[in-house]
Amino acid sequence: MTESESKKHEVRVFPNNETLFHAAAEEFARLAEKSVKDTGAFFVALSGGSTPRGLYALLADPSEPYHARVPWDRVHVFWSDERWVPLDHADSNYRMAFDTLLSRAPIPADRIHPMPVGNPTPAETAEEYELTLSATFQTRPDEWPRFDLILLGMGADGHTASLFPGSSLLEERERKVGACHIPKLDADRMSMTFPLINSARRILLLATGAEKAEAVRSAIEGAAEEPGLPVQSIAPVQGRASWFLDEAASSSLSL
Ligand code: 6PG
Repeated sequence: MTESESKKHEVRVFPNNETLFHAAAEEFARLAEKSVKDTGAFFVALSGGSTPRGLYALLADPSEPYHARVPWDRVHVFWSDERWVPLDHADSNYRMAFDTLLSRAPIPADRIHPMPVGNPTPAETAEEYELTLSATFQTRPDEWPRFDLILLGMGADGHTASLFPGSSLLEERERKVGACHIPKLDADRMSMTFPLINSARRILLLATGAEKAEAVRSAIEGAAEEPGLPVQSIAPVQGRASWFLDEAASSSLSL
């Protein structure tokens, strides 16, 4: 494993997915222990897609050292983004997390906060999620809830959460959660916005696989004149972000 400071974020490269997920599980458990010790709670936003499955499975496994370390009854779970599908749909980020982790961790049901996709429109779901955030964090509507940890992935196009290239949400600076249509997927999504994400104390960006190497290079080492990628807007205001990469995803980096 090699470490280096990119322009903004720590970059950690691991020889394979297994070592990456163990390191991410260690960071998750460490942050959960510290947050609960400091404040009595641990507020985490999970990412979707396929990459975090390995991390969630490790956290759920009682034979691994992380499961017993996390004070699950003090954990509040949110999602950084969600697809506009029922929560039991195969594409649901909630379902993926439930199947791999939440069904195997003793988190009180009222501390698991899926995006309420039963609303008539994605926009109404985003609006309701903002109210849930304010109520759970006990913040005023004009305040930014501060997550202890937000997990993110990245697509080969440099999107993160559901903040895709060309999306109107990329410029959103007032809303905490927004809805958008993704033309190339012909799908509607809801996503946390950059101001909310960047309010977090800790952000972990997990990316694996050679298909992401060019986006990783561009995001971390891209020249100023290169077109920006959405993931490059990850810049915690008073927090710390780290890239957790496998060797394949880091293969275009010069580090
Ligand atoms: C989603 C995720 C998204 C994901 C990337 C990477 O809802 O799909 O939030 O941002 O992290 O698309 O997905 P993979 O991990 O499947 O490559």
